[in-house]
Amino acid sequence: MRISVIGCGYLGAVHAASMAKLGHEVVGIDVDETKIELLAAGRPPFFEPGLPELLTEAGATGRLRFSTDAGEAAGAKVHFIAVGTPQKPGSYAADLTYVDAAVDGLLPHLRPGDLVVGKSTVPVGTAARLAERIEAAGARLAWNPEFLREGFAIMDTLTPDRFVYGVTDGDETAAPLLDEVYAEALSAGTPRIVTDLATAELVKVAANAFLATKISFINAMAEVAEVTGADVTQLADAIGHDARIGRRFLNSGLGFGGGCLPKDIRGFMARAEELGVDQALKFLSDVDSINLRRRARMVDLAVEVLDGNVEGKRIAVLGLAFKPDSDDVRESPALDVAARLSELGADVVATDPEAIETSRKKHPELVYVQDTEEALRGADAVVVLTEWKQYRQLDPSHVKTLVSGAHVLDGRNCLDREAWRAAGWHYRALGRP
Ligand code: UGA
Repeated sequence: MRISVIGCGYLGAVHAASMAKLGHEVVGIDVDETKIELLAAGRPPFFEPGLPELLTEAGATGRLRFSTDAGEAAGAKVHFIAVGTPQKPGSYAADLTYVDAAVDGLLPHLRPGDLVVGKSTVPVGTAARLAERIEAAGARLAWNPEFLREGFAIMDTLTPDRFVYGVTDGDETAAPLLDEVYAEALSAGTPRIVTDLATAELVKVAANAFLATKISFINAMAEVAEVTGADVTQLADAIGHDARIGRRFLNSGLGFGGGCLPKDIRGFMARAEELGVDQALKFLSDVDSINLRRRARMVDLAVEVLDGNVEGKRIAVLGLAFKPDSDDVRESPALDVAARLSELGADVVATDPEAIETSRKKHPELVYVQDTEEALRGADAVVVLTEWKQYRQLDPSHVKTLVSGAHVLDGRNCLDREAWRAAGWHYRALGRP
């Protein structure tokens, strides 16, 4: 099938390459020339495991092209909208400028019978508004939210947990067309739920709101554990055995960041207020506050172990990305903590396997080093803020030979506490004695 994908950021680039892998003929379109050049050369402008290989593989088939010309969408049967919906500056609401611009750019090139498929995360009601304009051009609109996680983006696109198709009332053709696009995964038994447009839009934000709530729930338990001497990781293991609760997304620590969870819960609250149901989502404001409090607590802990003052103390920061296997530092709790420690006068030396360049753009004042050992050398305290495998696997005895002070703060509850203590470290973590 001929497919266009408008917006070649995280979501769109992965979607375009994955659709080509499935055998479709795909053009990825974006206004950013540099991005398009890099993608066409098989070099994604961000870090995502497996994506360079997938771009090269799909590019070699001749089925994947990238362009800055919206006119290239003409002739495709299905047009995916995969542009970003960031938080508006100075507001909780989502900025729909890019979605509107994508539709504006597409409208002159639509043919009757084409299907426009929204994948971007939007406030409920957006699709109904866009549908009118698209129908006026003789085409139709469906909403097919994306649930991909950074770091697992290709797997989540090719073999998702489920498909959700939001279709307009009485449209009998959109679902069969999407079935054709996703035939491979559907034949493997992936569940598919067909809904109206509003439900599909809500499914996405509800899923992210639930995940954020789950993380903040366990971090709230960590706050209680801290004043009672209880251990939040054992608590998570114990409640997680109840299948109704489940252990996944119950890892306490510095909390959630990234380009999705924080802005999605805020955008959801803003939309609820517009709809007059702000009371229903009031709890998300606590979810946000609990999450942000973890960062402050981490900084306090560093001050505490360094005898009440971090000024002039050398702190090795391991990890800057919002989660491992990513170079993304949008709303990253790790980068935030590193910057706050530096503001307090600490001599921060930060490292991350992938996120140094992205961090430098936001916080040029911090000192970054590529090499973990260089970051550790001479440190008065070691702070682990992103649970990269290479940090989880550090040998505490060897690390001790590099530092000046044997204080380790585990911001992600990812180190083997007993092993570090046995090697002579003063180990501290959030929510654990
Ligand atoms: C999230 C959702 O998981 C995806 O399903 C969704 O498609 C995506 O947003 C999106 O809206 O596009 P992502 O932002 O890639 O995906 O990251 P997650 O894996 O959800 O992690 C989010 C944050 O929560 C990270 O900072 C992570 O460190 C933190 N986290 C996660 C915890 O603090 N504890 C946990 O137990 C799990």
